[in-house]
Amino acid sequence: MTIGEKLYEGKAKILYATDNPDVLITHFKDDATAFNAQKKGQIEHKGEMNCAITTAIFQFLATKNVPTHFIAQIDPTQMQVVAVQILPIEVVVRNIAAGSLVKRTGLPLGTSLKQPIVEFFYKNDDLGDPLINNDHIELLNLATSAQVQQLRQMALSINQHLQELFDQCRLTLVDFKLEFGVDRQGKILLSDEISPDTCRLWDRDITDTQARIMDKDRFRQDLGKVDTAYREVMTRVQAIVLAMIS
Ligand code: TMP
Repeated sequence: MTIGEKLYEGKAKILYATDNPDVLITHFKDDATAFNAQKKGQIEHKGEMNCAITTAIFQFLATKNVPTHFIAQIDPTQMQVVAVQILPIEVVVRNIAAGSLVKRTGLPLGTSLKQPIVEFFYKNDDLGDPLINNDHIELLNLATSAQVQQLRQMALSINQHLQELFDQCRLTLVDFKLEFGVDRQGKILLSDEISPDTCRLWDRDITDTQARIMDKDRFRQDLGKVDTAYREVMTRVQAIVLAMIS
């Protein structure tokens, strides 16, 4: 398979065409941004680590019959994926109050939610990815109501699977963001990535509220040791998934 033209460059990844129109290549970059790219930096080896973590998690989810765009990891920073039309909706699932939920509701950081909640954000950098509801999605024609219902169900089921996985890694899954795409047959596939860039993960065995952070909040809040935290997540996730699938 030959790598073709660059189709899209985002903040953390580049998408390339291949000689097969149904297959694309995602390249993971070391670049890190936060607050809609107002803060920019690099995390050493992030591309490799997020590619490896996403690969392991998508392989794990495949064993749970979650349809994803993942085909194969082809080198340390690149994976082959199914060509999909990405829905312009970021689906966030939360188990514990943190981040923008704390800002929006005043709930204390770390409050366990009685049940997971699902939120939708409009994937639009010019608008700063605002929170939207089902009516906004219909108004803007971002997805059909049947698709929105399916996104919610898939997101909640993925949450259960990921909680099971991260539990075994001694990590608490606080919240995470998913993106979905539609393939040529109209089927919804989990797409994009699942990594410490897109999840909040707290080390179960550390009580200090800053030291326990194992995700991009270390970069957002200038806590240091960002690459060390990502590497630790990679090591733990790979060990569990490898033992499970081999
Ligand atoms: P939030 O609390 O800032 O709304 O973030 C919720 C989750 O979504 C958190 O795990 C980080 C992730 N996230 C992204 O993956 N991309 C983004 O652009 C933002 C704002 C959050």
